[in-house]
Amino acid sequence: MNMKNLLITAGPTREAIDPIRFLSNRSTGEIGYELAKKAEKRGYNVTLISGPTALKRPDKIKFIVVETAKEMLIAVKKHIKKASCLIMSAAVADFRPKTSCKSKIKKGKGLNLELVKNPDILTSIKKTKIKYKVGFALESDNSIKNAKEKLKKKGLDLIIVNAITKNNDPFGKGKKEISFLSKDGTEKKYKKKDKKEIASAILDTIETNVL
Ligand code: CTP
Repeated sequence: MNMKNLLITAGPTREAIDPIRFLSNRSTGEIGYELAKKAEKRGYNVTLISGPTALKRPDKIKFIVVETAKEMLIAVKKHIKKASCLIMSAAVADFRPKTSCKSKIKKGKGLNLELVKNPDILTSIKKTKIKYKVGFALESDNSIKNAKEKLKKKGLDLIIVNAITKNNDPFGKGKKEISFLSKDGTEKKYKKKDKKEIASAILDTIETNVL
């Protein structure tokens, strides 16, 4: 295991309803792509597994495009073997349609979607040996309490907490309010950071702890 191998996931996943429609979320992938670019500049070997985004593929890194949560899980399982650190910034769709129609569903018939749960990627790789695991928590209520529970349940070393409030939209442009919670109980709150600054702060935290 090379201590400089970083595995990063980014963007949303897409879960097909039919050949035209899908379920997804508002993730842009920016944080993950910033992390990948900055880590490459700091001399790490970066593998970026990305859901569909509108962003330019970063140079000089290994880049894998996936569409669904299941595909992302397979790619993470494959590439985690060589990684010393995982940063799971992807907004994985928690649910997918139970069946995806091969042909277009005509609107005249109406539509009732039955959804099933997607696998939780972090939970699926909880027992995999890796030096440091970073996850994100997107919360609209009780953000710190919920994030602490996620940190423990998903076996993380660090969780980045994004609270969705009237004044803080993690998906929008501009400066964000964000908190870092570590396994050792350390809590750091940042009042105003843009996505580039957030990516640097995440890499700084990883470097002080492991790399
Ligand atoms: N995550 C994952 N697999 C999923 C869903 C989420 O690995 N199927 C990861 C995300 O990449 C993130 C962390 O788990 O690093 C927390 O994601 P979040 O959406 O905040 O939480 P959920 O586990 O989906 O829980 P809930 O939706 O109930 O808040």
